[in-house]
Amino acid sequence: MKPAILIASGPWPAEPWAKPIRRIDPERPIHIWPDLRDPAAIRYALVWKPPQGLLATLPNLVAIFSLGAGVDHFIFQDGLPDVPIVRVVSPDLTQRMTEWVTLQVLIHHRQQRTYDRQQAERHWQELRQPAAADVRVGIMGLGRLGRDAAAVLARIGFAVAGWTRRPTAVPGIAAFHGAEELDRFLARTDILVCLLPLTAETRGILSMPLFAKLARDGAIPHGPVVINGGRGGVQVEADIVAAIGQGILGGASLDVFRDEPLDPVSPLWRLPNVVITPHVAAASDAPSIAPEIIRQIIAYEAGEPLTNLVDKKAEY
Ligand code: NDP
Ligand code: OXD
Repeated sequence: MKPAILIASGPWPAEPWAKPIRRIDPERPIHIWPDLRDPAAIRYALVWKPPQGLLATLPNLVAIFSLGAGVDHFIFQDGLPDVPIVRVVSPDLTQRMTEWVTLQVLIHHRQQRTYDRQQAERHWQELRQPAAADVRVGIMGLGRLGRDAAAVLARIGFAVAGWTRRPTAVPGIAAFHGAEELDRFLARTDILVCLLPLTAETRGILSMPLFAKLARDGAIPHGPVVINGGRGGVQVEADIVAAIGQGILGGASLDVFRDEPLDPVSPLWRLPNVVITPHVAAASDAPSIAPEIIRQIIAYEAGEPLTNLVDKKAEY
């Protein structure tokens, strides 16, 4: 019998993940949480927001596959088995995130929220429109997602820079890295895009002191804008509300929140120039991603190394 898979997909339905796996590898035993009669049989766990402690009960686990690009949804759990962790790196996911980031940058750049308000009031008024070349976009995190978004935004004509943990080089993108270059990166940024993972180092980094360091001499009419498609824990939501109230930020687009779903009483819902989306920037599309996971398992069993591994020490 082939080594078994457990799918624990949290709030996501499991069947769309199981179906492509069955099609590609019909003899593979698949258990769908909470149907777990024999924990010792499970070799591969495919997880999204797995229950606390579940992974620790699987004594013969060989690898954990996150069903998303991020791994913060389980990597901080106690008693995590010491096995490789594979995360999603997929053209489909990357394309979706690039669409969301590009849309949000353009909403703020082209002052779409103001035009929406004008439309509601049947008010015809042309606003001064800066050229993309005069708008500086800064992307925190030039990983698999950040790089692609950076390339598309640069192609549109924005002046794009990126900030990373380690030194990196991306053609056409000004590169900054580490704590020592963060202030210089912020000082040249009008639209800040965050595509950072949630780690001990990034938790709460999008906060008032950081917002206060963004460029104030930019072409964007209402002041600097923050766009977060990374993780909610990276932002201090009360600081975003305060920064918008005080004019330190001119707007924001937020797809992720410290607690999801976002509390209906959060003031973020009602702030002008704030766009809220419900953690949909780059949804994991099971029909695209499940085949990539099972093909990787089959290749691994044939002697190939696992790819897209998480650096557990760095937490991403
Ligand atoms: P990667 O691991 O490929 O890239 C992460 C980037 O963040 C790297 O450039 C890395 O720097 C940088 N980084 C990490 N820690 C720090 C730090 N302390 N200081 C500066 N830079 C840092 O991840 P992906 O691009 O694939 O995904 C990024 C995140 O996007 C995911 O972790 C997830 O949280 C989020 N996401 C959100 C989705 C949504 O729908 N909202 C969907 C998918 C992902 P370096 O290059 O030096 O390693
Ligand atoms: C992910 C996500 O990490 O959907 O892939 O947030």
